[in-house]
Amino acid sequence: MRVLSGIQPTGNLHLGNYLGAIRNWVKMQDEMDAQSQCFFFLADMHSITVHEGREQRLTNVREMAAALVACGIDPDRSVLFNQARVPAHAELCWLLNGTARIGWLNRMTQFKDKAGKNREGASIGLYVYPVLQAADVLLYQATHVPVGEDQKQHLELTRDIAIKFNTDFEREVFTLPDPIIPKETARIMSLRDGSAKMSKSDPSDQSRINLTDDNDTIAQKVRKAKTDPEPLPSEAKGLEGRPEAQNLVGIYAAMAGMSADAVCAQFAGQGFGAFKPALADLLVSTLAPIRDRYVALKDDHAALDDILRKGAEKAAAAAEPTLRAAYDAMGLMR
Ligand code: TYM
Repeated sequence: MRVLSGIQPTGNLHLGNYLGAIRNWVKMQDEMDAQSQCFFFLADMHSITVHEGREQRLTNVREMAAALVACGIDPDRSVLFNQARVPAHAELCWLLNGTARIGWLNRMTQFKDKAGKNREGASIGLYVYPVLQAADVLLYQATHVPVGEDQKQHLELTRDIAIKFNTDFEREVFTLPDPIIPKETARIMSLRDGSAKMSKSDPSDQSRINLTDDNDTIAQKVRKAKTDPEPLPSEAKGLEGRPEAQNLVGIYAAMAGMSADAVCAQFAGQGFGAFKPALADLLVSTLAPIRDRYVALKDDHAALDDILRKGAEKAAAAAEPTLRAAYDAMGLMR
């Protein structure tokens, strides 16, 4: 088993990232057997599609590395690195540009969302973004890719690119990866709008819980989260048509390791005035230790750079055979 996943180092790690992806990364790392390997990386080459100054980007990469370690990614057991340090990603992306079809990229919903109305003004990088993501995954012959629901389409494209490349060049150069998407926490929604996903790019900080928020901020954001005036139902199916309530119950269930039905049974008939403080306490008890580890790590640039550099050396060595096979299959002499 080869596990691989990445995160963009833009802004803070939030609860959606944690429950949708990172918690699963840590679980897969902790359950790994001797034959398996985990690769986790900061997609800083992807982050060029969001304009940021030099200092900000340097800070973001280190802070995200610190956040992943604080969440439980262990650089001694998993290969943790930043993409820019492993040029094979950019190289394979270029080779795959010969295989990926414009029609396939035109269907990518993330591109449509991020480009917005001004499609002509979007960068080429934003358009080609999913090809670089395919390169990230295929380079390591990843078999399992733990991600949230919003990455599903990118993973399907990755498989399409791999199948076409293997077929066109008549060699099994790439392994087809499977996305691992947690059922209950695949899509954590904004605290302000139950129809929008929790996101780093939402201009309202009230819409998300950041892993760096202090206890009072967490409690205040939960208190102000949008809800409806109805009490909690006795079963989860009573939450249908109540997206905000469903989201908060889902977050509680995920944090407590309970089913949504069990959470509803526990709070049946109570209003959000009673439920929200319980949810805030639960969030604080899990997130406070992560935040404390993060604060202790984030300014130790030497230690973080050392982790990322060593990770990149291991990643580059693991990527090299696939990169060589791809060049060779295409008849490109290196
Ligand atoms: P990114 O940085 O947007 O998000 C990192 C991970 O968090 C998940 N996620 C969520 N899950 C549930 N609910 C939410 N509200 C939520 N918001 C984010 C994402 O699904 C993701 O798993 N393109 C990727 C980074 C990437 C990558 C890769 C991932 C680059 N190369 C190769 C996997 C494999 C991205 O922007 O994720």
